[in-house]
Amino acid sequence: MSSIAFTNIATLVTNDSSVGEGVLGILRNATLVVENGLISSITQSGPLGVDSEVDCSGKTLLPGFVDSHSHLIFSGDRADEFAARSHGQKYTAGGIASTVRATRQASDAELRENAKRLLNEALISGTTTIEVKSGYGLTEKDELRSLAIASEFTDETTLLAAHVIPEEFQRNPDDYVDLVINSIIPKSRAKWIDAFCDLGAFNPEQSEAILRAGISHGMGARIHANQLKAGDGVAIAVALDAASADHVSKSTKKDIELLASSNTVATFLPGAEFSTHSETGIGRRFLDAGVTVAIASDCNPGSSYTTSMPFCIASAVSLLGFTVEEAVRAATLGGAQALRRTDIGQLSIGMRADLVLLQAPSFIHLAYRPGVNLVHSTYKLGRAVTSWQK
Ligand code: NIG
Ligand code: FE
Repeated sequence: MSSIAFTNIATLVTNDSSVGEGVLGILRNATLVVENGLISSITQSGPLGVDSEVDCSGKTLLPGFVDSHSHLIFSGDRADEFAARSHGQKYTAGGIASTVRATRQASDAELRENAKRLLNEALISGTTTIEVKSGYGLTEKDELRSLAIASEFTDETTLLAAHVIPEEFQRNPDDYVDLVINSIIPKSRAKWIDAFCDLGAFNPEQSEAILRAGISHGMGARIHANQLKAGDGVAIAVALDAASADHVSKSTKKDIELLASSNTVATFLPGAEFSTHSETGIGRRFLDAGVTVAIASDCNPGSSYTTSMPFCIASAVSLLGFTVEEAVRAATLGGAQALRRTDIGQLSIGMRADLVLLQAPSFIHLAYRPGVNLVHSTYKLGRAVTSWQK
């Protein structure tokens, strides 16, 4: 038995509106006790007989960020492509091919080191759970090795062999779809199956076939949809009871209605909207329709090269029409819902003590002080961690 108490917490975000104020379930001057890695009590009085104490005077404690969408297994960068957009170039799915070339040439050690570097960035920005996709290998060998490296760092691994049609299959794309369905999926041990159903990537029929094949091999479904053009991706996600439909910025009214009456979370990727100069305000329409929403980093070298969930929270507020409360909830509980996890994303008795302590009196500062790392420390199972661990 080991116990630790977080005392004098100026603002505690629980995400449990039955214990605190508003959608974030806020408590002031609270004490949170952790026993054996799990939350054992939340009170507004002092702790009794604990092994150690962390004085949180003047600080904010909230659930660790749950980043439910990232592409961390890659090599190279595409800074020139980013700069070209600042000169008016449009983002297209075509840029993915250059990262595929670099990733295929990289050694396992290089891919592992790059992922570790990014995960350490995420950790010091307060991320405690992260989903990691393959998708820059696009051969059986390179997709499976990408997943093997991802699984060293997280259990939330996703097979995204359906990212784009690789260059060598441009003239016979359906042969690549067959390879994904008949060779890669059966050998994959990923938890999730994903497909990029969009302009320049996979069409709805190909995407649906790949997701169905993944589901029949025991994976949960998620999708990239409506990033570049409105299409059938959201309808497919809802029909297959996918955990999440991601990007969704070009969604139609019908898509929003479908999501509102489903168990599929809409995951917004404000870093991608920021980095590709995309349209704004779209989050509000989903929130007003009652859709369950998440915010994730989408960290990748092409469309969103950030690991910072606080940056994504600030961007969701300024670009997508979220309130600060909605953005913080979407980056914590929303991410957990997008991964269908019930042990994280909320601070309630019995849940994992995955926490982020901010050097700020309120969660509002996450958006109010953009670009400033306010994270004082990050805890996994109640223990302060300074380098990424699974
Ligand atoms: O989620 N949209 C597709 N895939 C990534 C971008 C990949 C890239 O441009 O390298 C995304 O934004
Ligand atoms: Fe993505």
